[in-house]
Amino acid sequence: MSDEPAFYGHLTFNAPLSDGRADAIAARLAAAAPATVLDVGCGWGELLLRVLAAAPGARGTGVDTDDRVLARGRDAAVDRGLVGRVAFDDIAGRDLSEPADLVMCVGSTHAFGDTPDALAALQKLVRPGGRLLFGDGIWQERGPVDRDLVWDDVLAQPDLGGLVDLAVDTGFRPLWVEAADADEWDAFESGFLADSEEWLMTHADHPDAPKIRAQADEHRRRWLHGYRNGLGFGYLTLGVPVG
Ligand SMILES: C[S@@+](CC[C@H](N)C(=O)[O-])C[C@H]1O[C@@H](n2cnc3c(N)ncnc32)[C@H](O)[C@@H]1O
Repeated sequence: MSDEPAFYGHLTFNAPLSDGRADAIAARLAAAAPATVLDVGCGWGELLLRVLAAAPGARGTGVDTDDRVLARGRDAAVDRGLVGRVAFDDIAGRDLSEPADLVMCVGSTHAFGDTPDALAALQKLVRPGGRLLFGDGIWQERGPVDRDLVWDDVLAQPDLGGLVDLAVDTGFRPLWVEAADADEWDAFESGFLADSEEWLMTHADHPDAPKIRAQADEHRRRWLHGYRNGLGFGYLTLGVPVG
């Protein structure tokens, strides 16, 4: 019996992303035949590994600043037979300078600052003719239910049209625009909370239980009473035209 909750143990991706959308994105990105792939704030790199599996000629690098998720990515690369084609490195987004054919940044805008900062920095990391998969928070038509229950940086996010406009203003062309659906969000939030809730099922009297229960209650309150069906997540496949 583990003495602490699992660490993202109930999530396939650390983003509102279904297997179906992930595989479709991986196939679309692989079709452009990138030779080099860079995933910034890769977490455990599940989407990076799927892109590499779909693009046999590509080599990939995932960078993150959390050793625990990088270790999970390395283990997954072994399981998928991708060891020689992928590296998981402890590097902060702002320290990157080597461009790649395909850059991915999903849920990791904060590695560069805010959304405009991230788009500007990421553009410099994409080779001319290359692509960026950019996944970032957006507000849907409904907006936040209770603004007091939403984090300030999240409140500042644009809607999907605004996010695409920002990308175009930065110099990208939008090759594909999509957004997570309600089921992907519910699975993401439930999977995030499941680490705590499953642990509490067998550790109700553990000394850490009151703190973990309170954190889970606060997160669930913000999700269900603050931003559910208002906060969205856009996935933009963006091109950097040659010339
Ligand atoms: C929401 S997760 C997204 C992970 C992954 N892209 C995915 O979709 O599963 C954000 C990730 O950014 C990483 N991160 C935070 N600050 C960073 C930085 N300055 N440079 C690189 N990664 C960073 C975190 O450790 C975390 O793994």
